[in-house]
Amino acid sequence: MTFPFWVAGKPVTSSETTVVRHSFDGSEAGSHYVPGPSEVEAAVQAAADVADEFATLPAHVRAGALDHISRRLSERTEEIAQLITAESGKPLKWSRGEVGRAVSTFRWASEEARRFSGELQRLDTDPGGTGRLALVRRVPRGPVLGITPFNFPLNLVAHKVAPAIAVGAPIVLKPAPATPLSALLLGEILAETDLPAGSWSILPLGNEETADLVKDPRLPVVSFTGSVPVGWAIRDTVPRKHVALELGGNGAVLVCPDWTDLDFAAQRIATFAMYQAGQSCISVQRVYAHTDVYDELQKKVLEQVAALRTGNPREDGVDVGPLVNEAAASRVETWVTDAVVAGAKLLAGGGRSGATVEPTVLSEVPEDVSVMADEVFGPVVSLVRVSSVDDGVERINASRFGLQTGVFTRDLPTAFDVSARLKVGGVLVGDVPSFRADQMPYGGVKDSGVGREGPAAAMADFTEERVTVLTGLTL
Ligand code: SIN
Repeated sequence: MTFPFWVAGKPVTSSETTVVRHSFDGSEAGSHYVPGPSEVEAAVQAAADVADEFATLPAHVRAGALDHISRRLSERTEEIAQLITAESGKPLKWSRGEVGRAVSTFRWASEEARRFSGELQRLDTDPGGTGRLALVRRVPRGPVLGITPFNFPLNLVAHKVAPAIAVGAPIVLKPAPATPLSALLLGEILAETDLPAGSWSILPLGNEETADLVKDPRLPVVSFTGSVPVGWAIRDTVPRKHVALELGGNGAVLVCPDWTDLDFAAQRIATFAMYQAGQSCISVQRVYAHTDVYDELQKKVLEQVAALRTGNPREDGVDVGPLVNEAAASRVETWVTDAVVAGAKLLAGGGRSGATVEPTVLSEVPEDVSVMADEVFGPVVSLVRVSSVDDGVERINASRFGLQTGVFTRDLPTAFDVSARLKVGGVLVGDVPSFRADQMPYGGVKDSGVGREGPAAAMADFTEERVTVLTGLTL
């Protein structure tokens, strides 16, 4: 099937098509029509033209559309999950999970759209404000350019589109070139709603063609999820725009000496170091375990990793599939080799076949090699023995990233103390950093980005405060 792209809510075909291939075996996942400059211009102008109308559309219309999208995604779960797997190589069970999460993201956005009312502020707190009251509402900053990555081709698209609709901000979405099909299928569902023409467009463009969109003054908000260098380059290019960046991470876990359920910790670590072949910004990449529990934990992590099934992501029961392409897998393989050359011990895995990297466990890894210091985005985890909780916190904070961290402790004061000291966007107590409920504020500090996702957080981000002062009132 050749998917049309979407300009101002309408399906469009063109003379050029691109084939998207399955990274496991190179088979065709689908293809899509490619927009040219005139279609890109039409999408942007339509977004600018509809901005005022969309901003004042009644909440029930926007919320109703979001409810519809959520329901239709749920009804089409299996078909969409198969498409996510075909284009991304993600095992089916994780694709099904991703559709479920997108259902929730749109549902939350519809609920938030109904609640998005602003607040009252009394101004008679000083003599000059006697009889005055401020109504503080949030209004869209203007049309949004959403740029999304390949690792969650549906739900990270949902995290741009749903909050934009919820606040009445038109959105021009550019999905990842490797995985645009799920976003284009989402267009079919968006087109079933009565959202105004121009309020959304989906343009499967190459990364190079996106540069002009980033600079276009008709799109004053850029919401980007993707790589660190590209994200910061966008911000440097358009310092006067409102730019939100969800970038990388090298997710860490701290296992404290009081944690006794090492079976659970090992199972969570193994699963979420390797899920989606490690291609999540919050996958487990570094494990800092207190010396009292380290040896037992290492044994159990290796058992759990050995039990994972690697193979064709289209088969039910497969846990670890290929990376997005062979070049990515080859890079990960090189990073593992570099770590071993630098003195790391290879405890499991290390091999590669095509785009698939074996689930890999390392120990005694120098902190400055890439598998520790950079974002692996592959099924590789490094285990580190620490002498104290403070030692672990210090090493986690030494990273240039700060997205989410998992802390295995049952001691409440330790949980609070560590949460206060970790320089990250989120701390998961009793779990790995990979947990994300879609309504949570999600984002990082340092090189991991700026701004927060989650429907409510992104709605705040896509809007600015507008104050209306009422005078001559009896308060
Ligand atoms: C990401 O990779 O940044 C998204 C992780 C998630 O939504 O679970």
